[in-house]
Amino acid sequence: SLPLRVKLVDVGPRDGLQNEKQMVPAAVKIELVQRLQNAGLKEIEVTSFVSPKWVPQMADASEVMRGIRRQSGVRYSVLTPNMKGFEAAIAAPRAEWPDEIVVFGAASEAFSQRNINCSIAESIERFRPVVEAARAHGIDVRGAMSCTVGCPYEGEIAPERVGMLAGLMKGIGVQRVDVADTIGVGTPRKVRRAMEATLQHYDIDHVSGHFHDTYGQALANTLASLEMGVWNFQSSVAGLGGCPYAKGATGNVASEDVVYLLDGMGIETGIDLDKLIDAGQFISDHLQRKPNSRAATAILAK
Ligand code: HMG
Ligand code: MG
Repeated sequence: SLPLRVKLVDVGPRDGLQNEKQMVPAAVKIELVQRLQNAGLKEIEVTSFVSPKWVPQMADASEVMRGIRRQSGVRYSVLTPNMKGFEAAIAAPRAEWPDEIVVFGAASEAFSQRNINCSIAESIERFRPVVEAARAHGIDVRGAMSCTVGCPYEGEIAPERVGMLAGLMKGIGVQRVDVADTIGVGTPRKVRRAMEATLQHYDIDHVSGHFHDTYGQALANTLASLEMGVWNFQSSVAGLGGCPYAKGATGNVASEDVVYLLDGMGIETGIDLDKLIDAGQFISDHLQRKPNSRAATAILAK
């Protein structure tokens, strides 16, 4: 049955901007976070503590975390693939620590190698101390699972492999997981199977949908997940983004489109669509393009 409310995590500042060729100044990222929280977002994925050689756009992670103006009731998450990233995330005073860190693995071996330079098994061994340290510091841990329906290098991914990864994440103490369709190839039945495989290890409150919209299927996949009772989703304001290690993959589903869908269905998000559209317009203006959101485009044309 459908949930009564949904929690959206806007991943635009991280998943969105990580793929931008032009360097976006830290001040613009900070202002984007500000506008997202003003729009009512209760969790924002702010940045990644990854190698600046691999993802130059996230090299200012510390500066961005220092610069955001925190609002009570809003949670701020960051990606930390290894201990080096985790240590960088907590090198700042406690008030600047993230509320949640994200370790990120893949259901596909080839993608794991290309994205984080190690096998799935090795990635779990790298994540283990990160999870332990985060929990010891009172920081929550989420696990992103890439390529849960398809992989740019291996093609279709069987649900068993998703279940396997979810089990490994659970085994090292990861508290919640994202079922990610990294390259947006999923359709509702396939996404449902990936969700079901994950639900063998995590309960419905600890599973979220993370759908890229490359093939225009993300809203359909969101609805299919909602019908299973999933109520946590990730989306990107203005549909920003893509993954630098998934060629041709476009951004996450636009937050504006998801909010329009949920508003229309009477499902509560706490997000003000007009203010969200303003946030999308702000970053799109900066990037000198139009927001990649059908709902924003339609509303702005009125
Ligand atoms: P590696 O080369 O195997 O790491 O990279 P290493 O431990 O061998 O270290 C090599 C160099 O990197 C050293 O520097 C380290 O200090 C440095 P050098 O001595 O050569 O100067 N290094 C770091 N620097 C800063 N921060 C760190 C860090 N770690 C090592 N944390 C690593 C392994 C994971 C670091 C690398 O592969 C990497 O940074 N990959 C980036 C992956 C990434 O950010 N991908 C995009 C995010 S995932 C995504 O978008 C998918 C998601 O949205 C879900 C979905 O849609 O599927 C989440
Ligand atoms: Mg992603």
